[in-house]
Amino acid sequence: MSFPYQIKTKEQYIAAWEKSVADPEGFWADVASSFLWRKRWDNVLQWNFTEPNVKWFSGGKLNITENCLDRHLGSLGSKPALIWEPNDPEEHHRLITYSDLHHKVVQFANVLKNNGVKKGDRVCIYMGMVPELAIAVLATARIGAIHSVIFGGFSAQSIADRLQDAQANFVITCDGAYRGNKEIPLKSVIDDALVQCRFVTKVIVLTRTHTPVSMIKGRDVWWEDEIKKVETMGNPDCPAEEMDAEDPLFILYTSGSTGKPKGVVHTCGGYMVYTTYSFVNVFQYNPGDIHFCTADIGWITGHSYILYGPLSAGATSLIFEGVPTWPDAGRFWDIVDKYKVNILYTAPTAIRSLMGYGLGPVKDHDLSSLKVLGSVGEPINEEAWHWYDENIGKGRCPIVDTWWQTENGGILISNLAGVTPAKPSYATLPLPGVQPVLVDEQGNEITGKDVSGNLCIKFPWPSILRTTYGDHERCRTNYFATYPGLYFTGDGCYRDADGNYRITGRVDDVLNVSGHRIGTAEVENAINMHTGVVESAVVGYPHDIKGQGIYAYIVYDSTHQEEQNLTRQDIAQTVTRIIGAIARPDKIQFVNSLPKTRSGKIMRRILRKIAEGETDSIGDTSTLLDPSVVEEIKNGKI
Ligand code: WT7
Repeated sequence: MSFPYQIKTKEQYIAAWEKSVADPEGFWADVASSFLWRKRWDNVLQWNFTEPNVKWFSGGKLNITENCLDRHLGSLGSKPALIWEPNDPEEHHRLITYSDLHHKVVQFANVLKNNGVKKGDRVCIYMGMVPELAIAVLATARIGAIHSVIFGGFSAQSIADRLQDAQANFVITCDGAYRGNKEIPLKSVIDDALVQCRFVTKVIVLTRTHTPVSMIKGRDVWWEDEIKKVETMGNPDCPAEEMDAEDPLFILYTSGSTGKPKGVVHTCGGYMVYTTYSFVNVFQYNPGDIHFCTADIGWITGHSYILYGPLSAGATSLIFEGVPTWPDAGRFWDIVDKYKVNILYTAPTAIRSLMGYGLGPVKDHDLSSLKVLGSVGEPINEEAWHWYDENIGKGRCPIVDTWWQTENGGILISNLAGVTPAKPSYATLPLPGVQPVLVDEQGNEITGKDVSGNLCIKFPWPSILRTTYGDHERCRTNYFATYPGLYFTGDGCYRDADGNYRITGRVDDVLNVSGHRIGTAEVENAINMHTGVVESAVVGYPHDIKGQGIYAYIVYDSTHQEEQNLTRQDIAQTVTRIIGAIARPDKIQFVNSLPKTRSGKIMRRILRKIAEGETDSIGDTSTLLDPSVVEEIKNGKI
């Protein structure tokens, strides 16, 4: 593979960015020409941000899996597409070449068809990080069905909510998953979810952990049995379904400041073009490079930079089943050494957690294969940046700090490794095609340098979300109504004297815990389900490893002092059950009442200050119904 659109110098970056603004259609038509289309598009771009309605390459026909698999078979057939490193380093790893992967995807696509899955159907995938997860995703896309991957840490209730919202009739899961020293009974969680989801007609279960499971007659089938059936059919081919560029490819649920998580919808053509383009340019991928993205495929980072981007570029992508600290904190460095990884893409929270173990686990590993380091998920603090640079990159690997969101599909603001300069704690410059603007509260654009504001994007890029599943109005109000004519990110941002962007964090009621987005309202709703909870308010506070921790203030109906710890555990357990362990509060403070305005609105600003330990700068409390509440809460701080 060669990439005619690969940017190699800073001058080329500037020229590409300028062309992408002056002539976006010409720019993206050129990039898109390097892909495999069954039929070329009629229009490069049609758009308005009012409805919103965005269409890229409409009329173009393609299948993304032909771009990720079939087109590589000639030149890269015997090259590993996936390297799989199991949770337990003693277990054998797997190398899956492009032709193997093609074969397995075709096989499983036939399994899906045999089980009644059709184009446009929603297929929910709830699996651990095994190669079959990649196979399930690609097979779904191959037959034109819509995948909705749910991270293996989510609870039965979260799964049920997502299945209902997506009206998914099909589920693919595993008996269980390994994560560090834990075994997660995925199928049993699915069973609990399906009690509420009678519309699910088929569950395909892969054997991974041999955890005992119960299978429901007519509904549940084993992955392995279904593969055997396809083999007895003589392994027929499964030509890829022809998709319109604007047909949905997948739904991925993400939290917002209100209500339940929303199903972000990405479509086939623009998503393919942008993930590949950004993969090649940000990481400066060169043919032969081994790419290791440590995210889970259950998040957008895994979709775009473990699967679609790298595979469409013909790269070798590493899938790691385990966690960074088990059996010890040298796990990542083991893997880098073992497979001679060239590109490592991870999250600040992982770096900070590994920093805590000192340099012992790093030394004795040869990290000289590394060429590029990446960071994603939250602002990377300078300390972590320098540790990563000095101890992992040994001062010779550019670090790309990549800012983007589930809704964006791919990286929007980042330096390009070794091509444009890095600046610690800055995502730096927009990729070609991306036009960031800063606005004030009224939506007026803040121009110039050395300024801060709310980050918006004023022009569509090919992998912008198209809608939120089943509720387009929610998409409009969430992203396009705050500042008419602009896509609003929800992030605050600073632009320095050189035009570099530094993301300062969310400006809405959304937390970023270990690089994962969690809505405070969602956590509050879960807490409020606990009997005895009268009301609650959740805010974030700085956490050494997670970036943000979850601090819950709870008004509880008669807790006796001696029972408080038990009650806390009980409430935390409720949140784990309703959402998942990632949303479990780190701190719970019982209060007699919450600080409210006379109109009954909770003053979160005050609660945030207290949780952050900044009690001196609480500011004006005179608008509160009862200002004495603040003193009481301050005194009871955990
Ligand atoms: C939010 C998006 C898509 C990446 C994984 C998270 C924060 C993400 C950075 C970065 C500063 C970042 C933002 C954004 N964020 N990357 N490099 N620097 N902040 O995806 O769950 O959709 O969350 O993560 O606040 O809005 P997500």
